[in-house]
Amino acid sequence: MKNIAVFASGSGSNAENIAKYFADSNDIKVAVVLSNNRNAKVHERMRKLNIPTFTFSRDEFSEGNSVLAKLKEYNIDLIVLAGYMNKITAPLLNAYPQRIINIHPALLPKFGGKKMYGMHVHEAVVAAREKESGITIHFVNENYDEGAIIFQATCPVSPKDTPEQVAQKVHQLEYAHFPPVIAKVIQKHT
Ligand code: GAR
Repeated sequence: MKNIAVFASGSGSNAENIAKYFADSNDIKVAVVLSNNRNAKVHERMRKLNIPTFTFSRDEFSEGNSVLAKLKEYNIDLIVLAGYMNKITAPLLNAYPQRIINIHPALLPKFGGKKMYGMHVHEAVVAAREKESGITIHFVNENYDEGAIIFQATCPVSPKDTPEQVAQKVHQLEYAHFPPVIAKVIQKHT
């Protein structure tokens, strides 16, 4: 069995989708979810699926020891960032080389970087009158949204689309593509 840890800061709809996708697999499972926000909706979603969740402070995430101990306890092979809004620091990057991946709700290298997360991304895409947006799944390094790209998929953006409508299209791409891409990364890199 290969074990995934999902890191999530907010709603956790991707975490839920990934967990359900692998629920019947004999090879891969979401073993644990870690969050930096004890009030995030992801905890409730995971409770319903019987998946344990734990909250660590921003400092604990960046210092690494307690988070690494938890990952070891669950024999984690791959870390999946799904709406996780903090930077990943050296202790985790060193412990999981090429084994931390992120999903970004736009077509990197466009609309990436420090303040580009969640709805801010879709607002920027609409403000720039882009004709398309999409998702980028990439390896994580020490800079926001700069690791090697593994996969991208696109959706059209019409001049009438609101940021909420773009968000909806992008979420559909995330739900369709993130779990199978995770499975491929596990096959190749763990
Ligand atoms: C997702 O759209 C994800 O791509 C984005 O946050 C959303 C989380 O939704 N991630 C980032 O913006 C990271 N820079 P969810 O909590 O419902 O899965």
